[in-house]
Amino acid sequence: MTITFVGHGYVGLVSAAVFADLGNTVYVIGHTASKIESLKKGIIPIYEPGIDELVKRNVKAKRLLFTLEYTQAISSSDAVFIAVGTPPKPNGEADLSVVFDVAEKVGKHLKGYTVVVTKSTVPVGTNKRIREIINRVRAASSSFDIASVPEFLREGQAISDTRHPDRVVIGTDTEKAQEVMRELHAPIQATQVITTIETAEMIKYASNAFLATKISFANAIASLSEKVGADGTAVLSGIGLDRRIGSSFLNAGAGYGGSCFPKDVKALIAIAKGYGYDFSLLREVETINKHMMLSIVEKAEKMLHGKVRGKEITVLGLSFKPDTDDMRDAPSLVVIRKLAEKGARVRVFDPIAMENARKILADVSVAFAKDLYSSVKDADATIIVTEWDEFREADLGKIKKLMKTPNVVDGRNIYSPTRMKELGFTYVGVGR
Ligand SMILES: NC(=O)c1ccc[n+]([C@@H]2O[C@H](COP(=O)([O-])OP(=O)(O)OC[C@H]3O[C@@H](n4cnc5c(N)ncnc54)[C@H](O)[C@@H]3O)[C@@H](O)[C@H]2O)c1
Repeated sequence: MTITFVGHGYVGLVSAAVFADLGNTVYVIGHTASKIESLKKGIIPIYEPGIDELVKRNVKAKRLLFTLEYTQAISSSDAVFIAVGTPPKPNGEADLSVVFDVAEKVGKHLKGYTVVVTKSTVPVGTNKRIREIINRVRAASSSFDIASVPEFLREGQAISDTRHPDRVVIGTDTEKAQEVMRELHAPIQATQVITTIETAEMIKYASNAFLATKISFANAIASLSEKVGADGTAVLSGIGLDRRIGSSFLNAGAGYGGSCFPKDVKALIAIAKGYGYDFSLLREVETINKHMMLSIVEKAEKMLHGKVRGKEITVLGLSFKPDTDDMRDAPSLVVIRKLAEKGARVRVFDPIAMENARKILADVSVAFAKDLYSSVKDADATIIVTEWDEFREADLGKIKKLMKTPNVVDGRNIYSPTRMKELGFTYVGVGR
């Protein structure tokens, strides 16, 4: 098939490259000339393991075509995927302005029959509005259907998630659109959930809200375990063995972040409010999450006997999770800003996300270290915020020697408390 993706972010670029690799001709429409020129040369604007090679291979095979122009791409496509960002507005609702802008552009260039698919995470009812927009601007000779095919990939493992997802959710309201989507996704070995557009839109938000809830539940249990003297990590692995519960997303830590969970939880609260339902459970999920980020600052403060001002504190890990450079809503930002507000001298290190972090933290006084070991030199305390393998595999003896006082707050429980004690660290994790 010939298909188009509008947007070449974590979702658009990875999905486009995987579909090209499956033998389709895939156009990718961007809106920044310099980025499109770079992509044509194989320079990738995001960090995602394996994407460089996948893009290069498919560009070379002329199956993956980057462009700024809608005409050729849209008129020759069987399906057009909208994969642009839907960031939160100040009131928590999803900002759909780019989605609607792109829908209008797509509509103007439709030729023959096309399925216009929303890949971006959008509230219930958005696809209907997309249909109205397209109907207003399309040529009378064209025809189209809309479809909601939400994305579930995880950054850091986006390629394998796209190739082997747990399920492909296909929301349509015509058999014709359903057939096109089923055929396109046929080589992807996964259960196809064939449903209505509204249900597909809700499945995406409900999935992310549930995962965020599971994380906050785990964190609440960990916090309580600390108070009652239980080992929170053992409690969580004990309950995770129950197959009705499952062990994934049951880790205690410094809270969830990223480009999806925070914004999708907010958006679902806002959607519910719009329908007169107070989703108080999700409001509490957010409260617990924020508390977890701040609690690791409190732990560092306690280790430093309440005196953070003027102390050298190292924050290890900036991206919202390992194997990505994505800094959107990263817990590290809350931790760093809080430490800076309390007067700490903050230094940071991340294996990949330093460049993105520099831009976001431009207003905060932070020192960006050149590597892990220089970041901890003479530090009064070190806080682990993101569980990169580089930190797991670090030479802890060397770190101990380099630090001024060996205080470690492990916000992701990556080290063994026993070993840290043996090495002479003052060490605290989450929930244990
Ligand atoms: N990142 C994830 O892990 C993930 C997972 C599942 C779903 N989603 C959802 O997918 C959507 C995209 O997320 P993302 O992480 O890829 O976002 P992103 O910010 O990485 O990418 C958005 C892309 O849209 C492009 N864009 C912006 N305005 C445009 C315009 N006017 N015309 C053409 N392109 C334009 C940007 O250049 C960028 O390439 C969001 O709705 C998100 O919630 C993301």
